[in-house]
Amino acid sequence: MSMKKASDYNLTDPKIMEDPYEFYTAIHNDNARAVHVEGVGYWIGRMDDIKEITKNTSVFSNSYFSEGGPLPTGVSGEPLEDDVKEIFNDGPKVVNALWTTDPPKHTIHRKLVNKAFTGRWVRSMEPRIRDIANGLIDTFIHSNKTDFIRDYAVYVPMIVIAEALGMSREDAGQFKIWSDDILSGNLDVLDHNARLRVAKSFVEANKHFESTVEKRREVPKGDLITSLATAKVEGKSLDTSEVLPIVNTLMLAGNETTTNLIGNAMGLLIKSPDLMATLRNDYSLIPLFINEVMRYDAPVQCLYRIVTEDTCIGEVKISKGSNIMLGWGTAGRDPKYFDDPNKFDLYRHNAEKNVGFGFGPHICVGLGLAKAEARIAFETIFDRLKDIKLDEKADLSHIPTFATRGYQKLDLVFNSNN
Ligand code: HEM
Repeated sequence: MSMKKASDYNLTDPKIMEDPYEFYTAIHNDNARAVHVEGVGYWIGRMDDIKEITKNTSVFSNSYFSEGGPLPTGVSGEPLEDDVKEIFNDGPKVVNALWTTDPPKHTIHRKLVNKAFTGRWVRSMEPRIRDIANGLIDTFIHSNKTDFIRDYAVYVPMIVIAEALGMSREDAGQFKIWSDDILSGNLDVLDHNARLRVAKSFVEANKHFESTVEKRREVPKGDLITSLATAKVEGKSLDTSEVLPIVNTLMLAGNETTTNLIGNAMGLLIKSPDLMATLRNDYSLIPLFINEVMRYDAPVQCLYRIVTEDTCIGEVKISKGSNIMLGWGTAGRDPKYFDDPNKFDLYRHNAEKNVGFGFGPHICVGLGLAKAEARIAFETIFDRLKDIKLDEKADLSHIPTFATRGYQKLDLVFNSNN
């Protein structure tokens, strides 16, 4: 048993990012309420604290950007090259919306978005999700091997959201280029060429969505982007300038996250053939499995809040302007909530109490969609593939970050069913 204290760990150490769970256990053992991470902020790991903080939106805020200000990504505010700036100037101005707002504005945005993301809409998507999953399996089934992340887990959510946002199936490739570019990192650390590429993709994507929003206002369709463009709260619908950042968030928020969920779930199954057999024999257990994966190996390990006034968490003094990281994945291992938290238990009675999709006003809009995608992804895999195993040469390392958790690749071998 290691006797290290939470404060002895360095979260940005590649070994800890590869496996943060020993650090999380130390947080709970020490009852450490806010662990300072040099150059990053304060890590919050206890479920009770996370719940409190998400509700206290005036002190722990999501409003990162100044309105009309620069950069869609990047934090230092350092000046960009003129040619990069010129491209951005041609795009939309920064408007805080949905994830980057606090109540009361957030409440209005959220009501509108909730009108689009109904359970009914998710159910209406299920046959299409199944088609997409089958179409992806068709691309690799004959080779009896796959990089499950590259060939499957990346594309399920990407194609679903691209179509929901009104892009044709053929345009899904363009959509992936845009979202990869926009997510390719903090502008501060990118070189000049990469900044140009990010700027171009950001502006192109926004022009495309702007025209789609305008078209759907004229000629509504049954898709998500029509609902966003036309839904009304208190008789008012959103301006296009507010719809666009929401569309951007939807484009980005559901992709890598859902990819990680599907990938982490498969990672657990190949390490536990008995568990795989149990689910294969009874698909009705898949939703329990997905809940427990969300608790045990959360796809999003943390998200940020910015502190608006000097405050304290427990004994730890935290000054205005500091970053707070809400450790969703750490709370999943909180022994006050979950018995024997480091054990994966398919039948855990309260696995759904995890906060892998967040908690409070900003709780994930897409959680019903993500769960449906993951469930259908496994139903379809079990229908069509058997004897699924890790390729001998496989490397199970994770993407090197503490914020999300997912495999870089997942090389599998299998046989096809009949
Ligand atoms: C397994 C997959 C997913 C995970 C783990 C996940 C996780 C999260 C978390 C932790 C939050 C809370 C943010 C906070 O409090 O700061 C969140 C918010 C959000 N998620 Fe997800 N998400 C997933 C899938 C999706 C999908 C598929 C969509 C949409 C297509 C989506 C859209 C959003 C949006 C728009 C928000 C912001 C909501 C708000 O600010 O009110 N997410 N998500």
